[in-house]
Parts: sequence; C-alpha cells; structure tokens
Amino acid sequence: MKISQAWQLGIWDKYKMPVPRHRPTSRRPIWIIVLISLVCVSLIGAYIYPPQHYPACYFFTSSVCTPFKDWFPAMPTRPLTDDEMASRVVTKDILSLPSVQSKNPKIAFMFLTPGSLPFERLWEKFFLGHEGRFSIYVHASRENPEHASPLFVGREIRSEKVVWGKISMVDAEKRLLANALQDTENQHFVLLSDSCVPLHNFDYVYNYLMGTNISFIDCFQDPGPHGNGRYSEHMLPEVEERDFRKGAQWFSVKRQHALLILADNLYYTKFKLYCRPNMDGRNCYADEHYLPTLFHMVDPSGIANWSVTHVDWSEGKWHPKAYRARDVTYELLKNITSIDENYHVTSDEKPQRCQPIELSKSVNTYVLRMN
Ligand SMILES: *[C@@H]1O[C@H](CO)[C@@H](O)[C@H](O)[C@H]1NC(C)=O
Ligand SMILES: *[C@@H]1O[C@H](CO)[C@@H](O)[C@H](O)[C@H]1NC(C)=O
Ligand SMILES: *[C@@H]1O[C@H](CO)[C@@H](O)[C@H](O)[C@H]1NC(C)=O
Repeated sequence: MKISQAWQLGIWDKYKMPVPRHRPTSRRPIWIIVLISLVCVSLIGAYIYPPQHYPACYFFTSSVCTPFKDWFPAMPTRPLTDDEMASRVVTKDILSLPSVQSKNPKIAFMFLTPGSLPFERLWEKFFLGHEGRFSIYVHASRENPEHASPLFVGREIRSEKVVWGKISMVDAEKRLLANALQDTENQHFVLLSDSCVPLHNFDYVYNYLMGTNISFIDCFQDPGPHGNGRYSEHMLPEVEERDFRKGAQWFSVKRQHALLILADNLYYTKFKLYCRPNMDGRNCYADEHYLPTLFHMVDPSGIANWSVTHVDWSEGKWHPKAYRARDVTYELLKNITSIDENYHVTSDEKPQRCQPIELSKSVNTYVLRMN
C-alpha cells in the first residue's frame, strides 16, 4: 500500500466561470429586480442545462455563486422521490456523527483476495509491535487461504464468489465493511488486494489516516469512452450524467463513510442494475464508478479524490504496470514512496493530465487541521 499518491483532475479549477451577460441597465429602480432575476435565471439555467463537458460544480465555485453554494446545488430541480428523501435524511445524520468515537481507535485492514496472501510475512513485519491499533479481515473468494503469519489465522470472513467487473466485487467490499464495523474501535477502513504491500511503516500509515477526517476515495470525471461513455440513462433521475464519476477501486474510508456505504441502497441498486459489463453494448464496471459517484453526490468535500494505494497507469494500457520480482529494488520502492504528485488520465481524444495535487502539502494541511 502506498500512502502518498494522488490523481487529481482539477477540471473545476481549470475553467473560469463565463460571466453572465447583463443587458445594459436602465436607471429606473426596476433594473435591480431585473438584474437579480437575470442572475438567478442564469444560475437556474446553468443548473438545469449545464454547459456540455463542464461539470455543474465548477459553476458554483465562482464568487458570484458562493452565497448559493451551500444550498443551491443540493436543491433538486425536480421533486425528490421517496427513496431520495429517505436517503438524504439518513446521509445527513450519518455525516453529522462525531469523527472519532473510540478511546483506542484502530484501523481495519481489509484484504480482498482470491486465496492465500503472498505477502503475509511482509505485512506481519509491518504490524508487529502495534497490537491493539489494527484489525485484519480477509475475504478470500476462491479458496481457503493458507497462512504464513499467525496474525492472519482465523481472520477470514464468510465470503462469496467475486467476478471481476461485476457487482459481486462491490458486495464483497460491503461484506468486509459490515464485518469490520462490528468492532466499534475500528475508525478507518482500508481496502487492499493480495498484491498490495506497505510502503511506509505502521506509525506513518496510522497517523496519516487517523490524522485526517476525510476518506481517500479516488474520484474524477472522465468525459471519454471509459468514463461517461459507460453511463446509462437508466440511472435517471437520481444519477445524472454530470454526476457520474470514476476512480480506482482501492479505498480507505473513515467510519462515517463506511456506515454510509452500508446504508445506501438507492444508488447501490442503480449501479447494480445499470452499471454492468456488456449492458446495452457498453461495459460498465460498478467497482470503478459506484463509490466515486456516490461520494461525489453525497459528500464531495469529505473525500480526497485520490487513493492511498499506488498504481502506475503511465503505460496507457488496459492494465496498470505490473511489477515483477526483478523490478522490485530498493530504488524503485524509494521512487514510489517519494512520488508527491500524480494525475488522472482521461480517456477522451485529448487525455488530460491536469492539476496535479501536491501531496506533501495536503498531508500537512490535514495533519494541521487535526491539531
Ligand atoms: C475536518 O475537520 C476540520 C477541522 O476540525 C473541519 O473544519 C472540517 O469541516 C472537517 N471536514 C469534514 C469533512 O468533516
Ligand atoms: C474533491 O473534489 C470535489 C469536487 O468534486 C471537491 O469539492 C472537494 O473539495 C475535493 N476534495 C479535496 C480534499 O480537495
Ligand atoms: C527512480 O527515479 C529516477 C529519477 O526519476 C529515475 O532516473 C530512475 O530510473 C528510477 N528508478 C527506478 C528503479 O524506477
């Protein structure tokens, strides 16, 4: 696992808001009302008909709109369905829970694996000496794992078959969260695969995750075929195309967000039914879109928009770069550990590598916030 990597598509920062054109104002007092209603009309208009390719959220970042920011985007332009109403109430209550509720906060390390974990001994080195500050959960979907480390013995949860790209992947993630949430001391929930290895020591990871009150969920907008091209209008009215997001699957979430994932049925069902491989001639993978879209909609400022696990997509292929045994040198690990910025690469004709985030800066920001 890599605790210092970011992909950040700063689309919203890239564009300046088009200044609404006002008619020449008349001297009569009526102009004030006209002007205000024009601004309002253009605000509403932009909300209902956002300019193509420009996400609605950038619009509301302009200073003109700031006073509206808190309530305007949340205001639907249509009546809420019963399910949406219920979902909003539950979400709001969960998000207002206090951040850390435990005296001995622990981090839950949740391994999603087909079978045995090849790096158990390495993880054991990482965990040793930190008993009481972590817990381990293993979802082995194909065969019973054999353990090389006693720390992992008996940590399997009941599992089911997982098919790559299908909703069963999300179901397995939810099963891990449900198990890990039973321990009320678990405050942060890290999803890892069998091929993840730690790149920093336990204290670093623990302090980093506990010192922030956000979740690390990768989230960006990709206007290309592997992003919005996978969106289906069957998701309407609750999920509009402009809210559709993408991101790598490996997340790390705080407790409130873990609860929220289990509480959500509305959006989960939309993705289960309409984001599937080979649906209406397109391939949609729920594990790459459901959580980024959900959190973009319900708590955009509560997520970092990047993941704490490192992966190298720079080869521009279907699969990320694989590290073979001969590649893994001290220098490589050092290189990866010191990466302090990265990009989201979109899949349209003009792949965008925009607005890298400076990681060390954001770490400080969050650590400072905690103090
Ligand atoms: C995180 O904590 C800071 C400072 O305590 C607070 O201002 C901010 O709203 C919190 N953010 C979230 C998403 O809870
Ligand atoms: C993540 O992106 C959203 C916009 O979708 C933004 O509101 C939020 O502030 C970003 N999070 C951070 C930590 O910058
Ligand atoms: C590490 O980074 C340096 C500088 O960017 C580069 O020249 C070198 O090839 C990298 N080494 C490995 C093993 O990735």
